Amino acid sequence: MGACLIDTAESYGTEAIVGDAIRGIRDQVIVATKVSQNHFRKGDVIRSADQSLRRLGINHIDLYQLHSPNPHIPIEETMGAMEFLVDAGKVRFIGVSNFSVIQLKQAQSALSKGRIASNQVKYSLVARDIEDSLLPYCQENQITVIAYSPLAEGISNIFRRDSAGVIERIAAETGKTTAQLALNWCIHKEAVIAIPKANSVAHIEEDCGASGWSLSVDHIELLNRTFK
Ligand SMILES: NC(=O)c1ccc[n+]([C@@H]2O[C@H](COP(=O)([O-])OP(=O)(O)OC[C@H]3O[C@@H](n4cnc5c(N)ncnc54)[C@H](OP(=O)(O)O)[C@@H]3O)[C@@H](O)[C@H]2O)c1
Repeated sequence: MGACLIDTAESYGTEAIVGDAIRGIRDQVIVATKVSQNHFRKGDVIRSADQSLRRLGINHIDLYQLHSPNPHIPIEETMGAMEFLVDAGKVRFIGVSNFSVIQLKQAQSALSKGRIASNQVKYSLVARDIEDSLLPYCQENQITVIAYSPLAEGISNIFRRDSAGVIERIAAETGKTTAQLALNWCIHKEAVIAIPKANSVAHIEEDCGASGWSLSVDHIELLNRTFK
């Protein structure tokens, strides 16, 4: 249905399931996984990557992300390990997650070549903190923002913040569902993609219908105001 990026992590316990799911269609899928922050020493990063590759049953990880910052381990050491994995052909792109602007700058400076491709952070109609400085910084520096929890960890958390029923009114006007509106609102921002989680085929089909069209400027502004 056009959704080809799968995000997982060594800590999720789902890499083997992802590996089963992509067998036979590996070249159609962008596989993103993460190394946990307690594995940021050089040897640990390399060991974690090898273990992820084995569980996923693939030869390279498309996007390998630092799951969250670890101030106790020098970022130069961790990024050196990430570049080693790129040079070895085991990783295509280096990403981070839950990094602030300062941490992004430090991580970028710690790379001897190449650059940070993405920063995975919480972003949804009801979690807008990144709009102040992180989102503009990423947009200016060609860093893709991967919005996690883009459905606010459940649609009820969106309804709770919308006592006037604005989103349901927009849904009626556009013929889209609340989930599709929430996701389309996320991805209309430059450099933002979204990784909703869904446990049913019906939800996945609905979520895939969130792209390929655009909310009107008026509807976007109304959503911005309603959920600010
Ligand atoms: N980097 C990090 O630190 C970090 C942290 C948290 C999450 N993440 C990533 O972000 C992904 C998504 O985040 P999340 O699970 O926290 O929250 P989310 O995607 O915002 O919300 C998931 C919830 O939305 C529901 N849902 C999905 N599609 C729906 C639809 N069409 N209609 C109604 N409800 C729908 C799901 O229900 P069902 O399950 O019943 O379909 C589930 O309860 C995770 O899978 C993970 O990869 C990353």
